[in-house]
Amino acid sequence: MANIIIDTEITKDSKKISRHIYGHFAEHLGRCIYDGFYVGEDSSIPNTRGIRNDIVEALKKIKIPNLRWPGGCFADEYHWKDGIGPKDKRPVTINTHWGEVLEDNSFGTHEFFDLCEQLGCEPCICGNVGSGTVQEMKNWIEYITFDGKSTLAELRRTNGKEKPWKIKYWDIGNENWGCGGTMSAEYYSDLYCQYSTYCKNLPGNQLYKIASGITKEYPIDTILHWYDVLLKKTIPQNNLGAYENNLIIHGITFHCYTRAGFEAPSIKFNKRRWYSTMQNALQHEKIIEKIIGIMDIHDPRNSVSLIVDEWGTWWRAEEGTNPKFLYQQNSMRDALVASLHLDMFNNHCDRIHMANIAQTINVLQAMILTQDEKMLLTPSYHVFDMYQVHQDATLLPTTITSEKCEQGKKNLFAIHGSASIDDEQKIHVSLSNIELDDAIDISIEFSHIELKDRKISARILRGEKMNSHNTFDNPDQVKPKNFDSSNFEVERNKLSLKMPSMSIIVIEL
Ligand code: AHR
Repeated sequence: MANIIIDTEITKDSKKISRHIYGHFAEHLGRCIYDGFYVGEDSSIPNTRGIRNDIVEALKKIKIPNLRWPGGCFADEYHWKDGIGPKDKRPVTINTHWGEVLEDNSFGTHEFFDLCEQLGCEPCICGNVGSGTVQEMKNWIEYITFDGKSTLAELRRTNGKEKPWKIKYWDIGNENWGCGGTMSAEYYSDLYCQYSTYCKNLPGNQLYKIASGITKEYPIDTILHWYDVLLKKTIPQNNLGAYENNLIIHGITFHCYTRAGFEAPSIKFNKRRWYSTMQNALQHEKIIEKIIGIMDIHDPRNSVSLIVDEWGTWWRAEEGTNPKFLYQQNSMRDALVASLHLDMFNNHCDRIHMANIAQTINVLQAMILTQDEKMLLTPSYHVFDMYQVHQDATLLPTTITSEKCEQGKKNLFAIHGSASIDDEQKIHVSLSNIELDDAIDISIEFSHIELKDRKISARILRGEKMNSHNTFDNPDQVKPKNFDSSNFEVERNKLSLKMPSMSIIVIEL
């Protein structure tokens, strides 16, 4: 049994769920960019200037709000000038993080902005702190955003782009405690301020500057130390610049991958692994709340947001693939990890402005897998599809009192969820049941409204088995279906339903 209370009253303190929580990430890693998004203009796969049309169409359907690029670890070894100009003149470099494969730089700044324009999403660029320079980052911003006649702006024009692009989201480094330079919190904080000072808002463009946070893999004291040091250094600078809207920092990142032990396979897992995965995913909320606690102390004005710009499952690479390419299958277990996180982010939308699942195509918890001209949508894609109703809607505070899972001995609550109301006054409730064996009776009480005049419908995502997944031969094994409305019982302001095991439901009222 689970009892849910949803407060439907909108007040001046109500919070909006930023659509950017539903963001994505594309790194030069394995087959995400090359042989993923980008097949080149000469490919027989239908494309627009080298970018696959079927991928663009699928991501537009889930209203992809932003795309983070070029990494990840790759970002701190990427030199943007390698990726501009005639393609046959671009240098060939080595992707030292991801298998030492050769990088021909045929996908660079112009191609990335073209991709974002085709997708209709906001670009998010991660600049190089680890092996770059302040000047190099400053120049990249000028190349992209300056409308005047500087040498860099003229170079952009020579390369085919007359008018500047606009860019808001700008990461100043990635994982600078590790692959981004193995720095201490103290050293990175100083460096961050130096870089940020020269990331200029040129006329007509306003940057949203994002500092690198830390990963959940560290002990909690180390995690909190990182945020403490960084915020102590930057918040006084923000307070000084607040009146001119000239903040040194707008966001700070956090990375939280979900695993079930070392090298765990994506599809061959047992019930124990299912529950340890769910436990691992749900722990992220506690860490996030602790980080937000530190942010509330240093930044009570809420001038800095938390950006969870890498999250998702990390399994052993599929057999027969390059282990450095991080190609993995995606099952109902991944779908539940996605829904749990999206609900978690919705419920903390007061601080969390953006999140990016890693990574969009063919890498880690992907939305889409490709094999030559074939493409399949993963169960995780379908979660993003069902959850898009929350984008830019107002959060409705939700209290869930759920029974625990029968199996797994993990002390885990079975039911999780979030709720929102959109501009057309439609209420959406998303629910996940992580229990493997039993359906659960759910009662949802809505404060301040009666349900009798509301049309109620729902979609459900569920597989036959806990590891049900889509394959190139059977791409529709797992996909959302309408949830039979005869399953609902309505009484004044209460809605009851039986929620099948290992399922995700989004209800619309
Ligand atoms: O997403 C894969 C890698 O995970 C990223 O490059 C890095 O930032 C993280 O460690």
